[in-house]
Amino acid sequence: MPTDRIKAALLSELEELEQRGVRKAPERVVVGYLPAREGRGPRFLLAGQGDKPFLKMNSNGYLGLAQDPRLIEAEDTASRELGVNPGAVRFIDGTTKYHQRLEERLAAFHGCEAAKIFSCAYMANLGVAIALCNKSTYVISDELNHNSIVRALRIAGVPGENKGIFKHNDVADLERCLDAVPAGIQRVIVIFDGVFSMRGDYAPLREIVAACKMRHRRFRDGVLTIVDDSHGTAAYGPTGRGTPEVAGESDVDVITSTLGKAFGAEGGYVAGTAEIIEIVRQRADTYIYTNPVSPGAANAGLASLAIVDSDEGRGKIAAVKANAEYFRSGIETLGFETIPGVHPIVPVLIRDTARVRAMVKALFEHGILATGLTFPVVPVGDETIRIQLSAAHTRADLDYVLETFGRIK
Ligand SMILES: Cc1ncc(COP(=O)(O)O)c(C=O)c1O
Repeated sequence: MPTDRIKAALLSELEELEQRGVRKAPERVVVGYLPAREGRGPRFLLAGQGDKPFLKMNSNGYLGLAQDPRLIEAEDTASRELGVNPGAVRFIDGTTKYHQRLEERLAAFHGCEAAKIFSCAYMANLGVAIALCNKSTYVISDELNHNSIVRALRIAGVPGENKGIFKHNDVADLERCLDAVPAGIQRVIVIFDGVFSMRGDYAPLREIVAACKMRHRRFRDGVLTIVDDSHGTAAYGPTGRGTPEVAGESDVDVITSTLGKAFGAEGGYVAGTAEIIEIVRQRADTYIYTNPVSPGAANAGLASLAIVDSDEGRGKIAAVKANAEYFRSGIETLGFETIPGVHPIVPVLIRDTARVRAMVKALFEHGILATGLTFPVVPVGDETIRIQLSAAHTRADLDYVLETFGRIK
């Protein structure tokens, strides 16, 4: 079939993105990894940049585990034993001992009865929304929730009149939304990010849970809280339990999260009570109709979880926390504005698109990879350079980045 007619339409849509300044730049391609040496953390080589080493200040790998030999070994062992592909979806004998073991360990890690893994957290959010929402469900979300939650609610078919949105981290506004739920609604779900990845701040879990508990009895199925702690799990909290640990509130009903950030592995998951997880298993299309991660990826997840939940892992979490504090204080001393927080995401607020672009380019020229966040990813006026710290960064790395920020200011 000729594609000439659609080609013209698509080119014009791309042109429109260009005009609006929201067309994504071509992707940079990582072609090499240089392990840490001589007081310097790992570096990366990029296509077209020769042997110039780059320092990643924009990775979700908060503990630096993705290149850990134990994860690589685990992936290799399971792949050699069972192959690199599960062969089919979970229900059609695609479940291996590694998938099952990982689910048991994740549930135990979060103190939950059960867990299910998905190919990624995006799919986990989608699956949970599909499984738990019905026609008499009312869903209340933080206005800055991740795209996967926003989309999930649309795809799950939650009608517009059954949705409430509260101002970011504003519990009084959440209470207003809860009190506005119409009569006849049987189930209320309050869903929010644990850590907001554009800002590095976290949900006031204790106050949110208290507000929900107060209204629980008004609804046949009560008020269910779901936290997507993709940036929190394994990244912060003394034992890596993420936002529930940092906020001092573990009584959240459902946790969705990823193995693809601080854990340095692959996949997403949901943890909760046995009935919630069984309904997810029965109803979540993104669990039922799609392959799980490979046995190797599941075993890498297991290896990572064992490290995270050990003295060594807690040491890494303490190290990334110390790095975040050091960088945050250094960048503020240089006169830059940040959003207060304790998470290894440190947003450097520039509040100007052109300056963000110029500074990200200058950092790149100095061998530093950082991410510029501009509208529509963040509201106009909140343009930011997002820095993400890792336990693998050394003090020399951070001093170099701070010195460079000072120079290009
Ligand atoms: C809050 C949140 N949820 C979900 C995701 C998606 O994670 P995954 O890459 O595992 O799909 C992200 C990643 O950007 C995120 O920040």
